[in-house]
Amino acid sequence: MIFNDLREDLASFRQRDPAARSALEIMLCYPGFHALMIHRLSHWLWKKRIFLLARFIAYLGRIVTAIEIHPGAEIGRRFVIDHGTGVVVGETSIVGDDVTLYHSVTLGGTSPAVDSHNQVGQKRHPTVKDGAIIGSGAAVLGPITIGENARVGANSVVTKDVSASVTAVGIPARVVMPRDKSKDREFQPYGTPADSGPDPMVQTIEGLRGQVSTLMERVEELEAQQQETGQADPPKRDSKAS
Ligand SMILES: CC(C)(COP(=O)(O)OP(=O)(O)OC[C@H]1O[C@@H](n2cnc3c(N)ncnc32)[C@H](O)[C@@H]1OP(=O)(O)O)[C@@H](O)C(=O)NCCC(=O)NCCS
Repeated sequence: MIFNDLREDLASFRQRDPAARSALEIMLCYPGFHALMIHRLSHWLWKKRIFLLARFIAYLGRIVTAIEIHPGAEIGRRFVIDHGTGVVVGETSIVGDDVTLYHSVTLGGTSPAVDSHNQVGQKRHPTVKDGAIIGSGAAVLGPITIGENARVGANSVVTKDVSASVTAVGIPARVVMPRDKSKDREFQPYGTPADSGPDPMVQTIEGLRGQVSTLMERVEELEAQQQETGQADPPKRDSKAS
């Protein structure tokens, strides 16, 4: 069971990070992978109610990886944190399967609800559903839901629910376009379609620039040939002479 999970996690990193070359490289050099392993241990201790040790192990993990995942956070299968530095996942966060976070993402809380014993009781961090991708630097704040296969743009601030399969960007985040449902199951590194290609307008301008520079080269060639053969500019015809 543990080895199956491990194999699955390694495969997810390889699949989602174009820079990953081997399972050994991931095991040795990927803080997101280390943070996930450490979280599995600290979360297990948290569920056994060994709270202090769980927190301490999570803290050691933070020192080593620069990724802070509270041991109370529930994380699904095949979770990938790419790069990782500065990621914070709060205590009552729930993360589904196949979720990807980039560096400096915050799954943070707002307005903690405190009960009469001064204990924070209710959910105050986000729920991120299966297959969602959250771009670097994004802050997802409060007990909101990021829907299945949704994408959150880099550096966005999200404080409201994001529907499934849409892209939300900016501060405050707004939906920019519905995603093609047929692509829901395909992961695209960085959340960006690889086949989208350059802007057609840019392509047209680049084509025109190429043609202009070819023509300029040709004109220069002709001018040089003209100078070599000693031909002067043809005399201007005097319209009065005729
Ligand atoms: C949000 C994202 C997934 C959208 O990718 P996409 O589907 O290719 O979308 P587009 O680039 O066509 O952008 C659509 C619109 O959103 C805007 N947009 C895209 N990302 C944005 C962002 N992070 N913040 C603000 N606006 C953004 C674009 O300017 C465009 O606006 P327009 O329609 O007014 O021109 C992508 O831009 C992104 O931020 N990915 C995360 C990448 C990341 O974190 N990389 C770290 C790797 S180390």
